[in-house]
Order: sequence, then structure tokens, then C-alpha cells
Amino acid sequence: AATIRYEAESAPATCDGVVESNHTGYSGSGFCNSNNAVGAANQFTVNAASAGTATLAIRYAHGGTDIRSADILVNGAAVETASAFSATGAWTTWSTKTVTIPVNAGSNTIRLVASTASGLANIDYVEI
Ligand code: GCU
Repeated sequence: AATIRYEAESAPATCDGVVESNHTGYSGSGFCNSNNAVGAANQFTVNAASAGTATLAIRYAHGGTDIRSADILVNGAAVETASAFSATGAWTTWSTKTVTIPVNAGSNTIRLVASTASGLANIDYVEI
């Protein structure tokens, strides 16, 4: 099935933090700059044509020097724990991380949850 993009800054996505647009290169109208806190989340509701496994692409930027680890939850279950979102070199340099996830047919909730006090990297979108 064709890949569908879901912007981090647009409903039904939710961003524990602020939607910003001060670093160029993003898709849509901005990105989610989560709070710098453990547990800060960016949540998406995505559609899958059929149940099974899917490739989730997460586009992000991280201009700091630490690793902004995050738990990746699908429909409430952790698929990855403290998954690494490595520095991209600048807040305007966007990278894509891919994860294989289990999905249900129809609607699925994807939740990125910061593992460290730095919060999440800036999140642009997910594609599935
Ligand atoms: C800077 C940057 C933000 C980023 C933040 C952070 O303030 O401009 O886009 O989210 O650092 O470290 O989380």
C-alpha cells in the first residue's frame, strides 16, 4: 500500500510541548518540539490497510550532542525501549529513522515517549 505521511504538528497528532517552525527543512507547517522532560510524548494516529508488520519512518532533527532516546509504543505496547535518536548535526538537518512495527487493520496509535530529561528530538512526521 502507498505510504501515508502524518505530520507531528497537526491533529490528530498530539505534542507534549510546542509546535514550532523556526528550523527550516520541515514538512507541513512545523514540527513538534517536545518538553525537555522524561515522558514527553508525540502521539500519532495512523491507518494500516491490513494487520501485520509495517515499516514506520520517523523524521526528526536533533542539533544537540546527546542521544535523545525514546520508547516507541504501538497501541500501548512498547515496540522499542529507549530507541536511539542520534544527533543530526543541526536543528535544520533532518534524518529518518525506521522501525518495524506490528499493526492492526485500521487505526493504530503510535506514541514516541522521551526516555531522557532532554525530551524528544524535534519530530517532523511519521510515515507508514
Ligand atoms: C533548541 C532548539 C529547539 C530544540 C531545543 C532542545 O532550543 O531551538 O528546537 O527543541 O533546543 O534542545 O530540545
